[in-house]
Amino acid sequence: MPKTPQADAIVLFGGTGDLARRMLLASLYFLDADGFLPEGFRIVATARAAMTRDAFVALTHKTLTDRPEGITDEVWVRFSARLDYVGADATTIEGATRIKTALGGATRPFFYLAISPSLFERVCAALSGAGLATSASRIVLEKPIGRDLETSRHMNTALGEIFDEDQIFRIDHYLGKETVQNLIALRFANTLFEPLWNNLTIDHVQITVAETEGVGERWPYYDEYGALRDMLQNHMLQLLCLVAMEPPADMEPDSVRNEKVKVLRSLRRFTRVEATEKSVRGQYTPGVVIGKTAAGYEAERGQASDTETFVALRADIDNWRWAGVPFFLRTGKRMPEKRTQIAIQFKPVPHSIFGQAANHDLVANRLIIDLQPDEDIRLSLMNKAPGLSQGGMRMQSLPLSLSLLRTYEGAGGRRRIAYERLLLDVIHGDATLFVRRDEVDEAWRWVDGVADAWADAHMTPKPYAAGSWGPQDAFALIARFGRAWSD
Ligand code: BG6
Repeated sequence: MPKTPQADAIVLFGGTGDLARRMLLASLYFLDADGFLPEGFRIVATARAAMTRDAFVALTHKTLTDRPEGITDEVWVRFSARLDYVGADATTIEGATRIKTALGGATRPFFYLAISPSLFERVCAALSGAGLATSASRIVLEKPIGRDLETSRHMNTALGEIFDEDQIFRIDHYLGKETVQNLIALRFANTLFEPLWNNLTIDHVQITVAETEGVGERWPYYDEYGALRDMLQNHMLQLLCLVAMEPPADMEPDSVRNEKVKVLRSLRRFTRVEATEKSVRGQYTPGVVIGKTAAGYEAERGQASDTETFVALRADIDNWRWAGVPFFLRTGKRMPEKRTQIAIQFKPVPHSIFGQAANHDLVANRLIIDLQPDEDIRLSLMNKAPGLSQGGMRMQSLPLSLSLLRTYEGAGGRRRIAYERLLLDVIHGDATLFVRRDEVDEAWRWVDGVADAWADAHMTPKPYAAGSWGPQDAFALIARFGRAWSD
């Protein structure tokens, strides 16, 4: 249950940017449509550009009407009345003071920093200077929080001097995805899985986050981070934590986050020797993705680069539950399809009673959790192949599916933007789905270990053609441990 009072306003820094327009304003609109925004809740967007309130309202209207969902006049009238815009340099006290004026009577605002992390500290200092950093306010930060443990600590310390930890909401938008929360429900609202959720029954886990898009215009940011820091340090480790954590006592923010931190602490550090055995870096070269030719990363970047756009690795969690169970993580840009998936591979039956003919049919159970493009949860089960057969019963594997897409359609249809859940939680002060400072530390500690091991082993990215599933070495990696990617 939320402990802090409801927020009464949001200040959207980077208010004209891509994230604010595509995701945040749209999410706020949908929250309003569903009656979730508190009465009188204000939305103040701010950016450097000088723009009138009317122009910003018109821009927001266009952004929303360009979306496939469309808007209704009734909600728009209510929503647009909440909007305001302040053109200001938010790194100055003068700019922050103008934001304060625009907030009017709102005393419990939250500040959403959809801006470059290089500005976080200066914006927070200006908020403090203008008297806006009160105990009733909160800040929401987008990643990246630093580039490694040292820089993230520096940032967290600087922000911690202005805001208490429970006022800081670090977003990982994957935690707002419906199926990610469904994973928590699946594990802890059923008796079925938990007794099997360990190294006695589970053979290995695969987490794949494949994207068809390339890096494109984002290379100035991406080239400094690469897939390891852009995807693995945050989204993928969060997914791993939710799969691997012990049952928390309740859904209180600290109960859940304590369990996630324990998983991160149990991740085995990479050594130089292990780096070459247990991980692969890749970088896309020209190719064809879904029928369209795509340039290579270096052509987009304009010069040679050692940044990886693909990572595959084996992670090991050194605790009782997971000892000996490999977690294979794989993420890449310019893959053949967009797919975010967690696959829990169970062990095969210890002995087949069905005779030789069925031996080839028997496939171990697998639980597939699809996050994107469609959300679904499927459990593959062996059953008898219909009809008659000679030489004993024949088997087939069929999925038992939750058909989430149909369930959502039945419940009103619209697939929510992940940010809706997260924004609503900030409004209510519920930090369960946000990343605590020590989680960030532990995730960086492990990722720094991987990056250091790569550097020690002089591992440069292997080329892969855009539109392929990464370098051949990624297949060799998982084969080395006797498994295959679940494609
Ligand atoms: C972002 C990364 O955090 O997540 C991007 O910076 C990536 O590089 C994006 O494309 C993926 O998000 P989603 O929700 O489309 O899987």
